[in-house]
Amino acid sequence: MLVAPSILSADFGKLNEEITAICDGGCDLIHVDVMDGYFVPNMTIGPVVVGPVAKVATKPLDIHLMVEDNNFFVDLFAKYEPEYISFHIESEKHPHRLIQKLRGLGIKPAIVLNPHSNPDSIEYLLEDLDMVLLMSVNPGFGGQKFIPSVVEKAKQLKTLIEKRNPNCLIQVDGGVNDKNIHELKDAGVDVVVAGSYVYGAKDYGQAIKSLQV
Ligand code: DX5
Ligand code: ZN
Repeated sequence: MLVAPSILSADFGKLNEEITAICDGGCDLIHVDVMDGYFVPNMTIGPVVVGPVAKVATKPLDIHLMVEDNNFFVDLFAKYEPEYISFHIESEKHPHRLIQKLRGLGIKPAIVLNPHSNPDSIEYLLEDLDMVLLMSVNPGFGGQKFIPSVVEKAKQLKTLIEKRNPNCLIQVDGGVNDKNIHELKDAGVDVVVAGSYVYGAKDYGQAIKSLQV
């Protein structure tokens, strides 16, 4: 299991140290939650913060867009050369076009599904994707309770992925901890995002390792 700590739960007063700590602690990706105050009822960070994060990071960036205007934010963040940019299927009229744009920029495209969205709705996009992110909370805030139906959804998605594109990864985001990690692993999940579980721990490295099952 790959682990992507979400910097949303980091102490932004000492962000450089917080980034270095998870990189030294053995994380696989750095999850960056971008919220515009319209698609979700919260606002977070833009290029003024992501630029310095990209400079200090020694692990690849995984940017999760929770925004209305995906194209605008892709244009802003492309220069930081993230490994992944994920966008919500619920906010994009032309997902296939945006996938092609990301590919052209050398960024791995990923699609995010909110708790109500069915994996069937993206079946014909799977062959063009590197990752699908299943939300296990409603997007907008860290520290929420895990929605257990995501486990069944991950199994459903795994079946579709095996049929359409076995290289596509499954990521789960929200309320992940050392209690639910094993059922996620068993369901075929490849990558987990963890914010409050990692940044709420005394030893970030130990928390990350406890999820790398
Ligand atoms: C929620 C974000 C998550 C969040 C995860 O909108 O997408 O990445 O930071 O935080 P935890 O792990 O605390 O649920
Ligand atoms: Zn996220």
